[in-house]
Amino acid sequence: MTRISERLRVSRRIAAITESATLAVDAKAKELQAAGVSVIGFGAGEPDFPTAPHIVEAAIEACRDEAMHRYTPSAGLPALRAAIARKTARDSGFECDASQVLVTNGGKHAVFNAFQVLLDEGDEVLLPAPYWTTYPETIALAQGVPVVVPTTEATSFRVTVDQLERARTERTKALLFVSPSNPTGTVYPPDLVAEIGTWAAERGIWVVTDEIYEHLTYGKHRFTSMPTLVPAITDSCIVINGVAKTYAMTGWRVGWMIGPRDVIAAATNLQSHSTSNVSNVSQRAAIAALNGDLAAVTEMRAAFQRRGAMMHRLLNEIPGVECVEPQGAFYCFPSFRGVLGRSIAGRVPTTTLELCEILLEEAHVAIVPGEAFGAPGYARLSFALGDDDIVEGIGRIAALLG
Ligand SMILES: Cc1ncc(COP(=O)(O)O)c(C=O)c1O
Repeated sequence: MTRISERLRVSRRIAAITESATLAVDAKAKELQAAGVSVIGFGAGEPDFPTAPHIVEAAIEACRDEAMHRYTPSAGLPALRAAIARKTARDSGFECDASQVLVTNGGKHAVFNAFQVLLDEGDEVLLPAPYWTTYPETIALAQGVPVVVPTTEATSFRVTVDQLERARTERTKALLFVSPSNPTGTVYPPDLVAEIGTWAAERGIWVVTDEIYEHLTYGKHRFTSMPTLVPAITDSCIVINGVAKTYAMTGWRVGWMIGPRDVIAAATNLQSHSTSNVSNVSQRAAIAALNGDLAAVTEMRAAFQRRGAMMHRLLNEIPGVECVEPQGAFYCFPSFRGVLGRSIAGRVPTTTLELCEILLEEAHVAIVPGEAFGAPGYARLSFALGDDDIVEGIGRIAALLG
């Protein structure tokens, strides 16, 4: 019999999860801040705006309502599921029924549920890189295999159908698609969304499409929803979304997944044994957000557009740094390859991991190395912070690298 002491203390499955580089950068920056250093943090993936007052008021009212002190159905409050179905038809043109919606603890939880429900051991998921760090981990946690399909600024970080076809095997079960993208800020044009959707439909490949940044697009770039453009994928498509980015509600933890009824029933079952339901009060706040207008989002988008354009310009002024224009979300994703190998503050970084460490220690600026997103040589900078901080932070980087 195996003695307890001979067993692993932590399961192999969980021990294999890589630490979130985004959070690691954040932790180090906070450590410096606690020691009294003024750090400019470009790591955050959240709007710096407060949640709108009418949403906060709805939550306060919910707190006073005893009925809200109880569990809700696992799938979410019926009124919220209905509001999500209405909002989806309004914003992306995708018609679905409330029964096809599962309310989750943030969009991240919806991603987790989606892969748990879709994947068996060894099933492959096509994952265009640069990718959001959570995707490969949640695929692996579901015993799936992330098949990374690299892209570069040469295609504005957009994957092509040819690349997907080359990466496809008999084990390909799903494609992860996200537009606007974290970390690159890329928005796919409608013809490419349609081409990729049609390709997936013809090959019976599921699409998990993350629409969380749908309202944050700039200039001529517009979000389009894959199942709206390609109705043929409706029965093999899961839409991920949430209130976090659009309504500046990252801390409220409300997201959702929309999919075929059998998949939503399975995910609801899974959720009933893990988290039961999303906080009742947060669900009521989300109803107020979705039933209200988009005025706050419009204001926030205008600020992000201005800041993104400014950050893009300032970054490109630094010798050795090249940045494509952000088209959506709130990130710049410049290449620092022209800087690697140079002597900086007496050190010679050969990777962006090392470079970001130097920038934090010497310039007190926190940015996330591309290694975290499957894209060494690049780094992600969020422009969800004030104009003055952007100017000061990029100025510090320029001074150190210049
Ligand atoms: C691409 C993408 N999808 C989903 C999420 C999940 O957001 P939340 O769990 O806060 O709703 C994020 C958050 O950073 C994201 O960047």
